[in-house]
Amino acid sequence: MSRYMVTSALPYANGPLHLGHLAGAYLPADIYVRFMRMREHDILFCSGTDEHGVPITITAEKMGITPMEVVDLYHSIIADDFSRFGISFDNFSRTTRPEHAEFAQSVFLDLLEKGYIVPRNMKQFYCPSCKRYLPDRYINGTCPKCGSEDARGDQCESCGTWTEPFELINPRCGICGSTPEARETKHWFLLLDRFQQWLEGWLGKQTDWKPNVLKYCNSWLGDGLRERAITRDISWGVPVPLKEAEGKVLYVWFEAVLGYISSTREYFSKAGKEPDEWKKYWQDPDTRLVQFIGKDNIVFHCIIEPSLLHGLGNYTLPWNVPANEFLNISGRKFSTSRGTGIGMGDYLKHFPPDPMRYALAVNSPETRDSDFSWTEYRSRNNELADVLGNFVNRTLKFTASKFDGKVPDAATDEALHAKTVETAGEVASLLESFKFKKAVALAMDLAREGNRYFDTHKPWKSLKTDPEQCAVTVASCLNLCASLAVIFEPFIPFSAQKIRKMLGLENLKWSDAGRVLLEPGHSLNRAEILFSKLEEGFEEVMNEQDKPAEEQPASLVDFEDFLKIEFKVGRILSVEDIKKAKKLYKIQVDTGDMVRTVVAGMKPYYTKEQLQDRLVAVVCNLKPAKLCGVVSHGMLMASDGESGVFLVEPGPDAKPGDTIR
Ligand code: 2FM
Ligand code: ZN
Repeated sequence: MSRYMVTSALPYANGPLHLGHLAGAYLPADIYVRFMRMREHDILFCSGTDEHGVPITITAEKMGITPMEVVDLYHSIIADDFSRFGISFDNFSRTTRPEHAEFAQSVFLDLLEKGYIVPRNMKQFYCPSCKRYLPDRYINGTCPKCGSEDARGDQCESCGTWTEPFELINPRCGICGSTPEARETKHWFLLLDRFQQWLEGWLGKQTDWKPNVLKYCNSWLGDGLRERAITRDISWGVPVPLKEAEGKVLYVWFEAVLGYISSTREYFSKAGKEPDEWKKYWQDPDTRLVQFIGKDNIVFHCIIEPSLLHGLGNYTLPWNVPANEFLNISGRKFSTSRGTGIGMGDYLKHFPPDPMRYALAVNSPETRDSDFSWTEYRSRNNELADVLGNFVNRTLKFTASKFDGKVPDAATDEALHAKTVETAGEVASLLESFKFKKAVALAMDLAREGNRYFDTHKPWKSLKTDPEQCAVTVASCLNLCASLAVIFEPFIPFSAQKIRKMLGLENLKWSDAGRVLLEPGHSLNRAEILFSKLEEGFEEVMNEQDKPAEEQPASLVDFEDFLKIEFKVGRILSVEDIKKAKKLYKIQVDTGDMVRTVVAGMKPYYTKEQLQDRLVAVVCNLKPAKLCGVVSHGMLMASDGESGVFLVEPGPDAKPGDTIR
């Protein structure tokens, strides 16, 4: 028996989580932990919500509530969704807890004292029109490495490079799109370069880690590690514990990775626990630290966090970081903000957790991105019903009607028993090496074997021709049901529990798989249906619901009606402010036929100079409307999304008056 500390990435409390999150860092961790508990290892599973970071303040601004209200709301939604999906954390904490701040601050001071953190004066981007310092991820620009135009100041999603804001070509404010300016400020830097050599040696020894994880790490090490600012000029976060750093907070990633430790500390601070016990899980070299994450978090867990822990000196380092790739939905990225993907809570409104747990385990994005589709979900759901559900059901029904619901007095089949023991062993070693897909497939093969055994031994016939053989068949099938409840428990815990209940069994250990758990004469409970099958046509209904918001037919418009709208190219002739209107401009637009006055809410997004002479798309025949005292005779078309508001631009050769269709 060994001691394990298992963590799953701390999700941002910035919105509900979707199935992509579940498949990435939570379901695999839960399967692993449930299995290891059944193996009777000393194992602790901690996580929590990551409640700092700029996206949370932006959400708060958008929703018109405080950041604390945002994280309160989403912490409880996320925690609730996890618990209904059966993710069995021992502790699910929050990084806004004062105890977390204290711990993160003490780590900061410790590393400062040890010389791994130093202050530096530096330049930072400041957006004059938004009047705020721009955090790295709110600066967009061209990636210096791959040339993608959508790189952010912290990372380029197309090539995975960790970028620095000043390296970006043509930087733009991610909030309003205008060009930011560089301002002087002071920040504290983590001297990551000091860990390069040590990391090379340490990572070099992790030969059993997933190749994709090592590949990422080696690419960062190959580029050479550089010092990184770990403080920020924003107000939402853990304050930097220094007088001269007033108004500054710790960079969210610096403190978030420490959230695993503070979650563990919280667990042991609860009544009846020994407060210092957390050290056994984080400071004892015999503890194996296993960290489940998505691939976008590799650098933080395999480079930053180990550096911090190594710098501190007396901490356990990750034993494995089984990072997953991404789960896509019908070829698209999961993204709740863009309206693609399925929320965990939305799913649970309609269906039970286990079929999704099974479908996601079978399609786990273990070594490459995988794709979720409702067609696949339906076939996995039906596989549960037809194979596992059917086997358990027919066995129990037959026992109820022919053996009075009692285990017959007979030995069990040798070959079937051997197969069960073999499968339990194989599934165990696959789970131990984080191969969840293969493991769950083998479990289902064993259930399939059960059906085959039932079919070939035909107990309904042998009942009359060879009652002794019939008793063997039934006793063997019943005991196989019990073993299946063991082997399936990590994957589909709710259904495994139902099977146990039907069989009249208490909690089981992994070593119970293959044992004769049901003695002759043992009384069984009533059989219940484990899984409901889904009919053909199910996926069409679901697909319609999952389309991104913009593809949903809000209400259909006849083509004739559409043609009634007069869309035209216009050129902006002049732009004026409107008294007392914070967001509006009064704009004169030439639309070919006439110069019309349009009132548009573009002030937060464009300066007057940026609008002057611009070609725009105008809706000309809107009923005139009075806005802040000015009558508007039309509307400028613009996109409105997370990255800002952008005017729709006709091509450079379009002329005022050209129709838009
Ligand atoms: O990517 C994310 O959702 C981050 N909130 C993960 C943090 S993991 C760890 F650092 F806590
Ligand atoms: Zn801006």
